[in-house]
Order: sequence, then structure tokens, then C-alpha cells
Amino acid sequence: MNATTRFCARIVGTGMYVPEKVLTNADLEKRIDTSDEWIRTRTGISERRIASKEESSSVLGLHAARAALKDAGLEASEVDMIIVCTSTPDVLFPATACFVQRELRASRAAAYDVSAVCSGFVYGLSIAEQYLKSGRYRHILVIGAEVNSRIVDWDDRSTCILFGDGAGAVVLRREEVAEPVGVLSTHIYSDGSLSELIHVPGGIGLNGFSGGAIDPKQYCIHMMGNQTFKVAVKRMSEVCREALAFNGMEVDAVSLVVPHQANQRIIDAVTEKLAIPAGKVYVNIHKYGNTSAASIPIALCEAREAGRIGEGDLVLLSVVGAGLTWGAALLRW
Ligand code: UT7
Repeated sequence: MNATTRFCARIVGTGMYVPEKVLTNADLEKRIDTSDEWIRTRTGISERRIASKEESSSVLGLHAARAALKDAGLEASEVDMIIVCTSTPDVLFPATACFVQRELRASRAAAYDVSAVCSGFVYGLSIAEQYLKSGRYRHILVIGAEVNSRIVDWDDRSTCILFGDGAGAVVLRREEVAEPVGVLSTHIYSDGSLSELIHVPGGIGLNGFSGGAIDPKQYCIHMMGNQTFKVAVKRMSEVCREALAFNGMEVDAVSLVVPHQANQRIIDAVTEKLAIPAGKVYVNIHKYGNTSAASIPIALCEAREAGRIGEGDLVLLSVVGAGLTWGAALLRW
């Protein structure tokens, strides 16, 4: 590296995978007291994908990772680190990332999971950014993979309509350039005092498995939808403004916003607050619902494939998730 160049962390490959099985709003109408009209107008969701019995987060993540590696033209043996962002890991341990590493035969990669729920991908991206910009590693695979259908309470109409399964992945490469490209900055936050807004109360560390019968509902998503909605809009717009200001950029410079796909009305409220026209926002929530940590990398992959992201474009990612966690990333493609 000479005096005029610096290390950048650039996305050079994207990939995604969603299970074949589609669960439509009409299907849900048969199981719970809801309607297609309510779900579409309150959330923007028409259908979501549901993993088969054999499809765990590592299986979905593996498909997405292979697609991202192919897109990047990279061999798995060249990957230095695999980060799987998930809140539905295959097992308590080892990390889901280790199963992906095994299947890819990524022989020299470190592998671990990041648990930041829906914010996971932006958290993972932030970690990769640091390793690449410091010069420590050259190639990092960041995967968001979820089987939310396994932790959804199918009797709870306020949550089961929202979530879906899927995986998205990106390959990041360290490059030496004069002008900053790739991940310009990431901004991640948390507020644990809001942990009960969205949570899965069951687990192992707090209660163990020795205290008698297990209540399956404790292993499902509990959510205070309304309160979450309000905090989501506030935090996502705040952190988007921060990302732009940090890089000395105005909203007008943004080519495409790729927001976390939790609720169409949240996306609309955030982009309205930021005065970003709807045409500059990538939305696929109607097809997949909220796929948690997989939501942004799936959307990124689709946006690229649809020609919505080109070289030199300024792309803004933003997210909020359980924890509470939130974050944003600004990318120069
Ligand atoms: O990834 C980040 C985490 N999650 C989120 O960001 C989710 C944020 N929250 C939301 O997306 C929304 O709050 C929901 C979609 C979950 C709910 O929408 P809402 O407009 O906030 O509805 P609400 O909870 O205020 O409920 C309004 C009414 C209630 O009936 P009453 O009490 O007014 O008679 C609910 O029982 O809608 C009812 N309702 C439903 N009705 C038909 C709740 N769920 C349903 C449903 N079908 N599926």
C-alpha cells in the first residue's frame, strides 16, 4: 500500500436462496382469524417461504454462500472468515457457520455466528469491514440465514403472518484503492432495556432443561408490535442520517436504499422522514415477509440481479431488530 491508497472492503459477490414452499396469505386465512386484505394493508406481505424439514439455517446459508462465491469467482479455499448471522442456529453449538465451513471445505476460514437477530447482517458486515480495512484478511463471507418458521407461534396472528425463511450472502474482498469504495462506513447500536419488545424467552442458560416440562410457546417469538413499530421508524431514520452525515453526503446522493424488510409501513415511514422517493427504495417484502438477518442480503442480491445497483452507486442499508439492535451501512458499489 502506498501513501495515496487505502484498504477498502468491497462486496464482490452476492447470492441468495429461499425454500420452494410458499405460504400465502390465503393459506393463513384457513389457519387463523386473519385476512389477506389485513395482512397486505398492514404489512405489505402477500406470501412467505417455509423451509422443509431438511432445510436448516446452515443448509439455506450454504446455498446462498455457494451462489455468492460463484458470483465473485472465488474458491471457498480462498475465504478467510465465514460469519453466519442468525437467530435460528442449527444447534446450540457448534456455530452454524462451522457447518457451512465444513460443507464448503473452506479449509482456512475462521467461522462463527453473530446473534443480533434482524440486525445481524449489518452487524456482520461491520465486523467484516474492520478485518478487511485493517489489512488482516482478504476475503470474508457474510451470510444471513434464518428458519423463522421454526420459532413462530402459528396460533399468534400478530406474529405468524410476518415471518419467513431464507438466506442471503455476500463475499467481501479487501482492495487497495485511492478513492474509498465498498463499505464506506457501518453504524451499529443496541438498547438492551428494550429486550422485551421482541424476544424468545426460552433458552438454556437461564433455566436449563431440568425444571420439568418444556412449554413450546416459550420457544416462539413474542412481540409487542406497536411499540416495536414506533422505535423502528425512529431508530432507522436516525441511523440513516448518521451514516450520511458521517460520510459528508446528502440524501440526494443515495442511488438505492435497501432497508430491512419488516413491514412496508415502516419502510414507507422511514423513507418519508428522510425524503427519499419510493423509486429509490428496494422492496421485496410482498414475496418473503420478514426473513430477519437474511432480509437485507436477499434484497441486495435481488436488487443487483434486477440491475437496480450498478458500479459507483451509493447504497444505503438500514435495519432494526430484537435486542433492541439497529444499524446502517453506506456502500459505494
Ligand atoms: O424485524 C423487526 C421486528 N418486527 C417489526 O418491526 C414489526 C413491527 N410491528 C408491526 O409490523 C405491526 O405492529 C404489526 C403488523 C405486527 C401489527 O400491526 P398494527 O397496525 O400495529 O396492529 P395492532 O397490533 O395495533 O393491532 C390492531 C388490530 C388489533 O385488533 P383490535 O385490538 O383493534 O380489535 C389486533 O388484534 O389488528 C388485530 N390484528 C389482526 N387482525 C387480523 C393483529 N394481527 C392481526 C391479523 N389479522 N394477522
